[in-house]
Amino acid sequence: CGIVGYIGEKKAAPILLSGLKKLEYRGYDSAGIAVQEKDYIKISKKNGKLNKLQKAVSQEIFKGVSGIGHTRWATHGKPSDINSHPHSSTQGEVVIVHNGIIENFRELKAELLKEGHQFKSATDTEVIAHLIASYYQANDLRTAVNKAVKRLEGSFALAVMSKKEKNRIIAVRKDSPLIVGLGEGQNFLASDIPAYLEYTDEFYILEDGEIADITKNEVNIYSFANQLIANKDKTKIDWDAEMAEKQGYKHFMLKEIYEQPESLKRLLEANLKDGSINLRQNGLNKDWLADYDKIHIVACGTAYHSGALAKYLLEDKLRIPVEVEVASEYRYRKPIVDSSTLMIVVSQSGETADTLAALRLAKKEGADVLALTNSRDSSIARESDMIIYLKAGPEIAVASTKAYTNMVAAFYLLLIDGMKQRSEIKQQTIKKYTSDLIKLPEMIRKLIDNSKAQIKLLAEKYALKDNIFFIGRNTDYTLALEGALKLKEISYIHAEAYPAGELKHGTLALIEKGIPVIALASRSDVFAKLFSNLEEVKARGAETLLITEAKQNFKEESIDHLIELPLLNQDFAGLLAIIPLQLLAYYTALECGEDIDQPRNLAKSVTVE
Ligand code: G6P
Repeated sequence: CGIVGYIGEKKAAPILLSGLKKLEYRGYDSAGIAVQEKDYIKISKKNGKLNKLQKAVSQEIFKGVSGIGHTRWATHGKPSDINSHPHSSTQGEVVIVHNGIIENFRELKAELLKEGHQFKSATDTEVIAHLIASYYQANDLRTAVNKAVKRLEGSFALAVMSKKEKNRIIAVRKDSPLIVGLGEGQNFLASDIPAYLEYTDEFYILEDGEIADITKNEVNIYSFANQLIANKDKTKIDWDAEMAEKQGYKHFMLKEIYEQPESLKRLLEANLKDGSINLRQNGLNKDWLADYDKIHIVACGTAYHSGALAKYLLEDKLRIPVEVEVASEYRYRKPIVDSSTLMIVVSQSGETADTLAALRLAKKEGADVLALTNSRDSSIARESDMIIYLKAGPEIAVASTKAYTNMVAAFYLLLIDGMKQRSEIKQQTIKKYTSDLIKLPEMIRKLIDNSKAQIKLLAEKYALKDNIFFIGRNTDYTLALEGALKLKEISYIHAEAYPAGELKHGTLALIEKGIPVIALASRSDVFAKLFSNLEEVKARGAETLLITEAKQNFKEESIDHLIELPLLNQDFAGLLAIIPLQLLAYYTALECGEDIDQPRNLAKSVTVE
């Protein structure tokens, strides 16, 4: 799931390991490095977390000044030492690491077996190493790699070394991200920028179909058609290495929860001009509402939940039909999408394979695409027609918090922008919405401080439970979805979200004494209905927590625990209600003693299907 590479004058092994450490957040189950030694390439690889690999490396002597490394998230072949990367060809002359999936690896393997190649692992990656080796006899390394990649079907980012061509790394990108960090007398390779931000702030972001030929003093980029790309733009990164560090917090997730007021403010300020929302300066360069008959919002995971919330608001205020769907479903059906559709894709990483595929499908049918993404120059950013950058800064914890907040806030910006295009909506209303939105960062800051102690106590209780239910109506239902996802992905407690009104159609059967039910009530228009659902579950023995800005109206005897939210416009109060849910997930997982930043089986950026 993560690739690194180094070539320079320093010892490569520690630099490779430190790069892998920075990419840990992407999720992985095994890791390995390969270093160019005097007349061979030395490989060390281990199933398990990086400290196992670190230990193995420290027990041997690695002197070389160039190498590649990898953290693997198993797709073909179970996690094991043998299946870990790097992989090499029969004689060990070609060594590679790979992200992605090779769809035609069985056919290629059969062909190579006939030629006498011998395989050690069950991976699709090893096939690539052998394929390159088979072309290598008559060619130099770059040409051999080029010939091999033309035969591969699927997605891949590759880093390739050869013991015959020391101090040269060839890197290839197709549908899986890869960047080259540019230094003085040294160059770097990685799946993502934080890996080597402490060494350089200048990068080439490789595009699909590009091959980088990297030595310590030079980086040349070629197309698959073997043309030198002479005018490749360098990307300068404006966040520093420290922004991607823990800075004294126990976990990245907690740090990122605390960063929300600041990162939200950054997004709002970037899109405010003279006290009014202005998206024209930053990528959404037209009045868009009149151009489209409908909106399709497509995303995965937490990003999808931000879209689910937006559907309620955009349809309510702008009266335009909005569909919202997870990308892995959208891409494999026949959605009714055409040039009258505005597709909004939401993706923190900008690299999620399913979201990218859905985007391409919609574009092919003539839709315009607006991306809400956190990643400049990501595939999704590059292939979209319009972009609102989320400006959340680097998000490292697998469980998304500050990126989610800025996704929802970006939809709030879009909502106000759309309201401006509806002549029937009064200026006064738009002004009020804008001023309410600007209040959010400070309100979030206070809410984190005020609710933390109470949530820690609740977390002690919840950590002992097997099942927890979340309920809400309207936008509160979408917050329930996100709250349940946060809790289950990091604490491994089974959590489910329901539209509160749907309980009686099935889930109520599961409610018994002591089962926690968390009810969200940030919208006054559905308070009364929600409160009667709360009574229903209380009557069946549930232990209830109400998160609300309602000061009265609910029956106190139906509430076991109460978290009060400050009062705000109900269309924006969702970003207040989500804060206790994030903290609750974090502190419950902490009580359970789980690996919060890197939950089992999950990856931060899912660049495979
Ligand atoms: C993975 C992550 C989730 C994330 C989802 C979509 O599953 O673990 O936290 O919400 O991908 O990622 P994206 O980068 O497209 O927002």
